Amino acid sequence: MSEPTKQAGADTSLIDSPRFTEPKSRRDFLGLAAWWSAFGTFVIAMLGALRLPMPSVFPESNTRVKIGPPDRFKKDSATHLTDLSLWVFREADGGLYAMSAICTHLGCIAKREDNGEFLCPCHGSRFADRGKVLAGPAPSGLQWLEVSVAPDGQIQVDKMRQVKPGTRLMV
Ligand code: FES
Repeated sequence: MSEPTKQAGADTSLIDSPRFTEPKSRRDFLGLAAWWSAFGTFVIAMLGALRLPMPSVFPESNTRVKIGPPDRFKKDSATHLTDLSLWVFREADGGLYAMSAICTHLGCIAKREDNGEFLCPCHGSRFADRGKVLAGPAPSGLQWLEVSVAPDGQIQVDKMRQVKPGTRLMV
């Protein structure tokens, strides 16, 4: 930056004052503005980059659903929990198991027929009463889901945890 020019006969007391700051030129101002803009952009980009490793959607924290006390399910019964797309069966000896009604082909809800078999209305897959595939295009049987007793005594089903067909909870 150039030194302020002192004109002959001009009062230079202000220029010589220690509190004097040289006026900024327009070029200096634009240069500073550009630097601050670049700095601001960098900070915002860094904040965005720090956030990248975090998932935008958190996985369902608890996939277990309470479905009621054990005596809700009478012996030798089949209960359809429509809102959960789930069938809960209790056999004569008290054994309890839960089977998803979601067809393993493309996810339609299979309907239980009078003979106990399941029929998928979308593409006609047929499943036996215990979920085994009888006719495709479904590639596999209906899923058996983990059933357990919650600390408060209610029956709970883990919708994300599949168990081997035939696994029952004795309650
Ligand atoms: S979705 Fe069930 S047969 Fe296609």
